[in-house]
Amino acid sequence: MATILAIETSCDETAVAIVKNRKVLSSIVSSQIELHRTYGGVVPELASRQHLEIINPCIAQAIAEAEVDWQQIDGIAATCTPGLVGALLVGVAAAKTLAMLHQKPFLGIHHLEGHIYASYLSEQSLEPPFLCLLVSGGHTSTIYVQDYGQYQLLGETRDDAAGEAFDKVARLLNLGYPGGPIIDRLARQGNPEAFKLPEGKISLPEGGYHPYDFSFSGMKTAVQRLIQKLELTGEIPTADIAASFQATVAGVLTKRSIQCALDYGINTITIGGGVAANSGLRNNLTAAAAKHNLQVYFPPLKLCTDNAAMIGCAAAQHFELGHTSPLTLGVQSRTEITKVMKLYSCS
Ligand code: KG4
Ligand code: ZN
Repeated sequence: MATILAIETSCDETAVAIVKNRKVLSSIVSSQIELHRTYGGVVPELASRQHLEIINPCIAQAIAEAEVDWQQIDGIAATCTPGLVGALLVGVAAAKTLAMLHQKPFLGIHHLEGHIYASYLSEQSLEPPFLCLLVSGGHTSTIYVQDYGQYQLLGETRDDAAGEAFDKVARLLNLGYPGGPIIDRLARQGNPEAFKLPEGKISLPEGGYHPYDFSFSGMKTAVQRLIQKLELTGEIPTADIAASFQATVAGVLTKRSIQCALDYGINTITIGGGVAANSGLRNNLTAAAAKHNLQVYFPPLKLCTDNAAMIGCAAAQHFELGHTSPLTLGVQSRTEITKVMKLYSCS
């Protein structure tokens, strides 16, 4: 059983957790949403400065709440890729310093692998293989989890992430930031069939469409045009637009991930990322999975959005498998999920 202190600072949450294998001993998440709200999105330089400001109190709080001492901690982990470079640097520098100071191994963790591990925390008996639909503000991917540390990317967005599309459409409708939860709430009062929006298909050079990839920028542009047209005639039916947009996103995410699971003979789908909170996606995917006899797991929201517990859980598994990272490991704004093993030297 490995006990890990984990740090997550890849975007706008400063998070520290202590995890013992699949058990969360403490999880501190300090969100920067208020700081970035005025700008309608994350400002990277402000994010790094804020991480720097509060990382030490977060570490102290995580240790106090878990009631562990340094001797009980087997390794120190931090998200090292993908993310905002300046933000990642804060967490990685803190983790390496603690690792050196307390003579513990350091483990760099891939942020998306962390999102996948959120499902192991909520479904203690979950084992690979399964399919993970990862839908956040920065990522939209369908990942085939073949085994521990072994991933195949089956589908991804070619432009905006699903959460980013929610945020952009909310901005077009002057609803505020972050847009996902606001659209979700408003959509309940609207008609999801009021407007037909394009579901975003990716053409293949040999003809036909990519079966699992996504595109959300066309959908956003269609909403923009619709608003411009409706503005000429009078009031904007905001709730109907929100409901139609949400139904289109939920429909396409459901359709392509179910297709993917069926084609690859996978019978379990897990969800990760902030958009997993979306009620339209939850209802749609749950119903479609039941129809095809597939198991679907939505982790609780606090594990879907960015947190360090998921990073700690991934690190505990790597530690158990004898994987540790060299202290020379740097941060990267992007790394493919299929390359996670490059972050470790195996003992
Ligand atoms: O995973 P997350 O907390 O951060 C990233 O790593 O990006 O995801 C944040 C994203 C935002 O774009 C937010 O608008 C979206 O998740 N989101 C939602 C909902 N709650 C959060 N999108 C749709 N419906 C929701 N209920
Ligand atoms: Zn994330």
